[in-house]
Amino acid sequence: MSKRKHIGILSGGGDCPGTNAVIASVVKVASSMDYHVTGFEYGLEGLLKPVACRDLTTDDVKGISYLGGTILKTSNRGRFTSKTGAGEAGGVEPAIIDEAVHTLRVLGIDALIIIGGDGTLLTAAQLAGAGINIVGIPKTIDNDLGSTETTFGFSSAVDVVVDALDKIHTTATSHERTFIVECMGRSTGWITLTAGLAGGANAILLPEFDFNVDDLVNFIQTRRRNHHRSTVIAIAEGSRVGGRSLFRDIHDGEVHYSGISELLMGAIEDRIEDEDHEVRHVILGHTQRGTMPNAYDRGLAKRYGVAAIEAVADGNFGQMVCLSNSQMGTCSLAEATAQVKRVSESHYEYHVAKRLGIYIH
Ligand code: F6P
Repeated sequence: MSKRKHIGILSGGGDCPGTNAVIASVVKVASSMDYHVTGFEYGLEGLLKPVACRDLTTDDVKGISYLGGTILKTSNRGRFTSKTGAGEAGGVEPAIIDEAVHTLRVLGIDALIIIGGDGTLLTAAQLAGAGINIVGIPKTIDNDLGSTETTFGFSSAVDVVVDALDKIHTTATSHERTFIVECMGRSTGWITLTAGLAGGANAILLPEFDFNVDDLVNFIQTRRRNHHRSTVIAIAEGSRVGGRSLFRDIHDGEVHYSGISELLMGAIEDRIEDEDHEVRHVILGHTQRGTMPNAYDRGLAKRYGVAAIEAVADGNFGQMVCLSNSQMGTCSLAEATAQVKRVSESHYEYHVAKRLGIYIH
């Protein structure tokens, strides 16, 4: 009798709405094929001593698909951290990879499904290089992986921002204020651009471009002279004010973004002529990540989950499942992280913003 297939699954990097729907789909399909599933906790860290893992049965994943976060926990810090700065990445030390491989061999894992963003998928490629049968699933609210059309979690994060913009418009109009709404996105501005368009932002500021504060203040003051007394600005956290991005380097290249909206608020206040003109800012931060997955993301996450376990069944390893022309497919783990998808002037959304008179920089 052949051995029952043993699958591992883990979620690494920042949490992302839809991850639980992916896990549930993988476990349900795997159990229908009589595979044994082990979930590793705390992302890749769970592969290292003290190993953190547990069996996953269909009972464990009952009713979790609509929940945000990940039942397997996750980590974007620790011994597997290979990011060295904004957008840069280095490899994980061979000794760490060897220890993870050892854990998987001892447990008799035949294949490992890794749900992760660019950093986690780079390590997935290293594990594949070390002989582990890997299938990757792309996961980021930033939607900036060039190898797949859309990642689950993005649409839900956009919903959070649009909801906030609707509320901010209300109060901004009542008080005739300028409001700056800070969105996630350290090196790419997809959340800010998509939500800014949908939520009627008057100005959209993205990490991909530079903007000039004097020019922005001029835009705001011209609006006020033309009876548009309030202005709502959507800004991505990784944007630069006067060529300067704002982040705190905690240690060893561990970077926290947050606070560009406050810096910009001060810069605008210093320049406005009208003393009655007040400026406020809001940082949406992790509310964008911690939300429940919306209907679109639940459906997309289930598609990714089913495609991943089918790739395992087919022995299609060293691959990441991806969405291309609305169809599920696969690409190599090397391709998966090769390209960051950035907003450019040639994107139609940029054109739409321009045509609508939105200040986009
Ligand atoms: O990569 C996803 C992301 O949401 C970024 O947009 C954001 O800068 C980052 O995670 C924040 O991560 P954390 O605060 O958890 O380190």
